[in-house]
Amino acid sequence: MKVVITESYEKLSRMAADIIAGAVKEKPDCVLGLATGSSPVGTYRELIRKYKNGETDFSRVKTVNLDEYVGLAPDHPQSYRYFMDRNLFDSINIDKANTRVPDGLAADTAAFCEEYDAYIASLGGIDVQLLGIGVDGHIGFNEPGDCFIAGTHVAELDDSTIEANSRFFESRRDVPRTAITMGMKSILCAKKIVLIASGENKKNVLLEALHGDVTPKVPASVLQLHPDVTVIYSDKI
Ligand code: GLP
Repeated sequence: MKVVITESYEKLSRMAADIIAGAVKEKPDCVLGLATGSSPVGTYRELIRKYKNGETDFSRVKTVNLDEYVGLAPDHPQSYRYFMDRNLFDSINIDKANTRVPDGLAADTAAFCEEYDAYIASLGGIDVQLLGIGVDGHIGFNEPGDCFIAGTHVAELDDSTIEANSRFFESRRDVPRTAITMGMKSILCAKKIVLIASGENKKNVLLEALHGDVTPKVPASVLQLHPDVTVIYSDKI
């Protein structure tokens, strides 16, 4: 595992974007696993800049997102589909048909989850997976628990996650209680993983994930088992 400490969020974002753009250059039809939240906003801004100055061509790239709130429609301003469109897809030359975000409105969630895993497998897996980390150590919405869950599944959100994410909603009451998340198998099968985190409030959980026991109580600790993980951290947000 490579751990990089940077002095600013901007630098963190540039480094993450460089890794992703490098993968696209090497393999123009690569599969990117993408994340939402505050952490990747700067990375996406950089990728948009790279597209606009002709450095990066996304025309053949495919993307799969980690997660989506159950019950939010794609045009809901807090849905992760809406986030991805506004923060990245609408500003680069990606074919939207090649972008997948779990369907928060799926009528049969179990069938949807199976189909999502089958889709990722049909692409040959993920080349580069971008991750943030929750204050409770979650990746995607794989919340702390008694076991790691392999497949895409519906997760009950932790109180700490609901609290942390309530900053995006009008009130805590409006935060969905469940979400569809990619499981650990698709994440760990990614050829390369880039985890970005910024701010003092992520420091302790990150240290625990990187240096503590590998345990489902700290879901990100599973990354210790992966052969190609780059962690980029800045205490500035
Ligand atoms: C959300 C997302 C995660 C994300 C995490 C951290 O709950 N499901 O994928 O990594 O929270 O978010 P942020 O970057 O806003 O701190």
